[in-house]
Amino acid sequence: MEAQKSVDLYIEFLRTRRSIRKYRNEPVPLDLILKVLDVARYAPSARNIQPWEFIVVTDSVVKNRLAEVYPWPQPIRGAPVGIVVICDSKSSPNTYQQDCANSINYIMLAAHAYGLGTVWQGILRDEERLQVQRILNIPSEKVPIAIIAVGWPAEKPEPRSRKPLEEIVYINSYGNRVK
Ligand SMILES: Cc1cc2nc3c(=O)[nH]c(=O)nc-3n(C[C@H](O)[C@H](O)[C@H](O)COP(=O)(O)O)c2cc1C
Repeated sequence: MEAQKSVDLYIEFLRTRRSIRKYRNEPVPLDLILKVLDVARYAPSARNIQPWEFIVVTDSVVKNRLAEVYPWPQPIRGAPVGIVVICDSKSSPNTYQQDCANSINYIMLAAHAYGLGTVWQGILRDEERLQVQRILNIPSEKVPIAIIAVGWPAEKPEPRSRKPLEEIVYINSYGNRVK
């Protein structure tokens, strides 16, 4: 009974993470960010290479420079903290993007557990990547793939819609729907 309750709570926890783009004007202690990043270390990675590194950005001048990399407004500008996720493309040339994406999910879920809001900002275009590398002095073989804006939530967004299970699940062969 107790075990079932914990399972239900954990599933509910996973389902209630939302991207948060508005934050209270309150600092987030560095210790708490380090606790979140401590959890990120447990994300799975191919051959357990763990090709991730993280830059915690609290300086508002640097945050604004990161925000200016994008042609449209991004939540990092109003967030007390940004975490830039950097991946070592040399040590894991085939899987670094996937490995680091796992660490990002761990960061967002650990932050959610501590009551913090996050949103994943992709560093998608070469131009964005080069600018972020320049701003943060990141060596060329280390690829920044995302900035995670972090702060105490100042909004409670409605859940975004999700595709129904029957649209995305097949059994044994593509197209063979479960329902
Ligand atoms: C690879 C990736 C890139 C994203 N980039 C941005 C972004 O640049 N700006 C932003 O506001 N949200 C960004 N998001 C957040 C998504 O918009 C969000 O996760 C999605 O709409 C689902 O909403 P939810 O996270 O609240 O469930 C990104 C998410 C992912 C996985």
